[in-house]
Amino acid sequence: MNFSLDEDQLAIKTMTRDFVNQEIIPQAREYDEKEEFPFEIHNKLREVGLYNFAVPEQFGGPGVDKISHALIVEELARGCAGVTTSVEANSLASYPILVGGTEEQKKKYFGIISSGGFSAFALTEPSAGSDVASLKTTAERVGDEYVLNGEKCFITNASYANYYTVLAKLKDSEGSKRFVALIVDRESEGVSVGPHEKKMGLRSSNTASVTFEEVRVPVANRLGEEGDGFKIFMKALSYARPMVGAQALGIAQGAYEEAVNYAKERKQFGQPISNFQGIQFMLADMAMEIEASRLLVQKAVWYVQQGTPNTKISSFAKCFASDTALKVAADAVQIHGGYGYIREYAVEKYFRDAKIMQIYEGTNQIQRVVIAKDILQD
Ligand code: CAA
Repeated sequence: MNFSLDEDQLAIKTMTRDFVNQEIIPQAREYDEKEEFPFEIHNKLREVGLYNFAVPEQFGGPGVDKISHALIVEELARGCAGVTTSVEANSLASYPILVGGTEEQKKKYFGIISSGGFSAFALTEPSAGSDVASLKTTAERVGDEYVLNGEKCFITNASYANYYTVLAKLKDSEGSKRFVALIVDRESEGVSVGPHEKKMGLRSSNTASVTFEEVRVPVANRLGEEGDGFKIFMKALSYARPMVGAQALGIAQGAYEEAVNYAKERKQFGQPISNFQGIQFMLADMAMEIEASRLLVQKAVWYVQQGTPNTKISSFAKCFASDTALKVAADAVQIHGGYGYIREYAVEKYFRDAKIMQIYEGTNQIQRVVIAKDILQD
């Protein structure tokens, strides 16, 4: 067992941190305030190869290993989780294609995002969030096409995506084999995107609903076989969840760094507040919980690297790191006192951005359901 990063991983981490310090942090606050999508930052990230980490090298991806992918995501989220979530939306939409796609589908659709495009993972519906199996979007087979009807909501990158990976229910079918996974081109007739949602955090990322009205999707765009859809999407989430852990880790790390710096500078009772044990204990807890999260995230992505994403460890990583992020961000605000509540200070944004990490890609209650199911099966 070796806990150290290799030379390439260290170089990628340093390069990403430098990029984030120069290109993201100085602008993140403004994009957040304006709730504007930072195309300029996304273009620069693409230029330096910090994009589409889930795409294999032969299809145009940057060819980084999964530990490096997690290191990059952590560093990006330390700079701005809004930017990171949009970058990672391309990865999330890629996992169903990686799990169930043919070489032809990979070539075509990974080609689109590798040459500047966006994609989106369309699973959640207004009345089907945690309970995926209750979704209402239907796909009816008519000749060589599926006719798709339904509405997906809270879709990251919805407005800019060139295509969506979509889970739908096969019309008139029963049981767990009733789902089909499809790739739906944005330009298909009958696809419409709702207005951009105004959010508590991740405000520089794009979130909107997508409606499918009599959309004709060629059978060639189906991932796997009819009936494979549910498992393809569940496996995709097992690949993706450790990276939510990595994002949460970046938020926690950023908030922690702010708290340490502030505690050393801020003087009360004639001395820096870092001299007081009350503050020291908070900082020590933050450092300890961040380190524990990092180890879990790295173990989970190591499993993904081996090609065997482990559902339980993926849920451990996502759940523990996101609970840590919210706690650390809340304590970082506390250490800043009244200043922490003012929008000018970075900890306020970390706190808002942290909350969603406990909710999206499966709430932390659902992660515990997944973990408990696994433990009891064993
Ligand atoms: N890998 C492979 N197969 C899996 C699996 C996995 N990870 N999880 C479940 N399955 C299989 C089961 O083995 C079962 O197979 P059989 O029928 O052959 O036995 C089948 O799928 C059904 O499984 P369950 O009975 O466990 O299904 P369920 O209906 O009880 O639901 C759930 C399980 C875990 C609650 C699931 O619904 C779930 O994960 N919900 C959370 C949804 C979620 O994460 N949404 C995120 C949306 S995306 C987002 O937020 C991203 C964004 O915007 C950025």
